[in-house]
Amino acid sequence: MDPVSDLEAKALIEIASAAPDLQALQDLEVRWLGKKGELTLQLRETGKLPEAERPAFGQKVNAAKGRVLESLQAKRALAELNELQQRLEKDRLDPTLPGRRSLGTGSLHPLTRITLECCQVLQRLGFNIETGPELEDEFHNFDALNVPSDHPARDGMDSYYVGGKVLRTHTSNVQIRVMQKRKPPLRMAAPGRVFRRDAIDATHGAQFHQIEGLAVDSFGRVRFSDLKGTLESFCRQIFGRKLSIRLRPSHFPFTEPSIEVDVQCFKCTGSGCALCKQSGWIELGGGGMVHPNVYQACGLEPGDWAGFAFGLGLDRLAMLKWGIPDLRLLAENDPRFLAQF
Ligand code: PHE
Repeated sequence: MDPVSDLEAKALIEIASAAPDLQALQDLEVRWLGKKGELTLQLRETGKLPEAERPAFGQKVNAAKGRVLESLQAKRALAELNELQQRLEKDRLDPTLPGRRSLGTGSLHPLTRITLECCQVLQRLGFNIETGPELEDEFHNFDALNVPSDHPARDGMDSYYVGGKVLRTHTSNVQIRVMQKRKPPLRMAAPGRVFRRDAIDATHGAQFHQIEGLAVDSFGRVRFSDLKGTLESFCRQIFGRKLSIRLRPSHFPFTEPSIEVDVQCFKCTGSGCALCKQSGWIELGGGGMVHPNVYQACGLEPGDWAGFAFGLGLDRLAMLKWGIPDLRLLAENDPRFLAQF
């Protein structure tokens, strides 16, 4: 074989057996076809040939170079495909996956949620939603609710005074404000924040939330059994199933008779567990039949009207409903806690 064909054959074999790698192919191109490449150098030999043979020899070398280049390019296309394949396998992309969120979506605070749920339940039972001031005068927070200034019940509830007013100790002030504004018959519910001089621990805070209920109609039309039925229906809707309630005799100056309301522990359904401190019952709040002196304080004729009122702890309800172990979590606003709602 002549040296040109010999070199061409060698080059083609090297290319064929080279790895499909762009850098390796680049090196091969330099080695065979570059300025100082082995085939390129063959052209220098042209000068040594007799005049008549030179064109044929030149053509032969160039044709050989052309074939080597072609084979290099074919191999290069293969190498490129190979590289693309590897890249695709490495950064596998699934365009059907949901996008990444850079900002989390917010959610309602558990207290907001329980407030809304309680309002919805009571609205379905015919109660309007009302609100009253958190900074209240003594008349609406105490006197009109049959708690005169020398009454011992003031001590137990005494609160923070700000410039002659009091941070309300309960939502019962709204009872007075609504009955002053509107003559019964009426049914209203008032959620809101209340303040007490309590020692702060896992179940007590200096501020907490209540929802007040009040239903008043002409004397004889609203009875104690309506209070019981309302509380029963309320608990059933909040806790999602039938749970018994228990009413214990109690005392509030603004109701007579007065009760405290317990609901059957929704966790153990009454058999006793850590949540209900083995008692089978969980305390929700107080209530009773509106005291005649309350109507009087609102400018209503006491003998004309009868009604019931109740006040339930919203923080308490939220803790029970979602198993929140510490009241303080509701005020700390730690996103790790809030994101669970
Ligand atoms: N206001 C009472 C409290 O804060 C609860 C209550 C409301 C009791 C209405 C009777 C009637 O404890």
